[in-house]
Amino acid sequence: MLPYAFFQKKFVPLSEAKIGIMTHALNYGTACFEGIRGNWNSEEEQIYLFRSKDHYQRLLKSCRVLNIDIPYTIDELCQLTVELVERNGYREDVYVRPLAYKSSQALGVRLHDLEADFLLFVTPFGPYLDVTKGIKCCVSSWRRIDDNMIPPRAKITGLYVNSALAKTEAFDNGFDEAILLTQEGHVSEGSGENIFLVMEGRLVTPPTSDNILVGITRDTVIKLAHNELGIETIERTIDRSELYIAEECFLTGTAAHVTPVIEIDHRKLGNGQVGQITKKLQDLYFDVVRGRNEKYLHWCTPAYRKPVKA
Ligand SMILES: Cc1ncc(COP(=O)(O)O)c(C=O)c1O
Repeated sequence: MLPYAFFQKKFVPLSEAKIGIMTHALNYGTACFEGIRGNWNSEEEQIYLFRSKDHYQRLLKSCRVLNIDIPYTIDELCQLTVELVERNGYREDVYVRPLAYKSSQALGVRLHDLEADFLLFVTPFGPYLDVTKGIKCCVSSWRRIDDNMIPPRAKITGLYVNSALAKTEAFDNGFDEAILLTQEGHVSEGSGENIFLVMEGRLVTPPTSDNILVGITRDTVIKLAHNELGIETIERTIDRSELYIAEECFLTGTAAHVTPVIEIDHRKLGNGQVGQITKKLQDLYFDVVRGRNEKYLHWCTPAYRKPVKA
């Protein structure tokens, strides 16, 4: 079976989807992207795409920031995604990458007077971080980029150099993930995840004005905590030292799902194990994203019209 991509308005074998070396986005980071998970449900032999409409709403907002026009509506983008996943026929968790990019073969740093295009590919994708035992984080020496530099609420490819610097520094120092602070020294987010603390039984997370990507998993967790556990979330500026005294901490993201954090800067959180509230939220979340919770099926789009048999 060939992997297929959607490229230059057609479905083509992935191996044929190539861009030229002068492509503006490759040279200057002038592209924006999304990551959508397709979660395999083995009983139903189905892949459920999670909140694809919300991901495309965010993509179109990112496109506005970058002056990119793509000739598709949100419904069309969702439909293209279903078609791509269906054509590929994977029987495991997958990750779909939509990318809207400045496609002109042109030199010159700018956003105007450039063509844009849209592509999609899909790849098998298991766990990104250790969701079972939890992870160890450090506060990064790299600061989160500010809205006035490259707006982090837009998922812009060039912005991810900031995340990559922080992630590799954390990895080289023996940690699993980095937590970045804002220029003012407040907690912002992980290199590819939003962050939550559990404090006095409530969830606390940085506000959207603290240079975070406004995460779809973040929103999912806030809603599940409220609706299913009666736990409220406070969105407020968080000091660095609060990371050390929180009862629990977890990261959220399409790739990371709900990942427990058990240690920050070598200090154990709580008893150094996965926290109870984190575990409850994680269990709820995994059922929801695999289409096993009727109440939230509206967030799940089946990719296969018929179950895919092995
Ligand atoms: C920097 C950053 N923050 C947060 C997130 C989490 O966002 P979402 O839950 O929409 O995947 C991501 C992942 O896309 C990210 O790259």
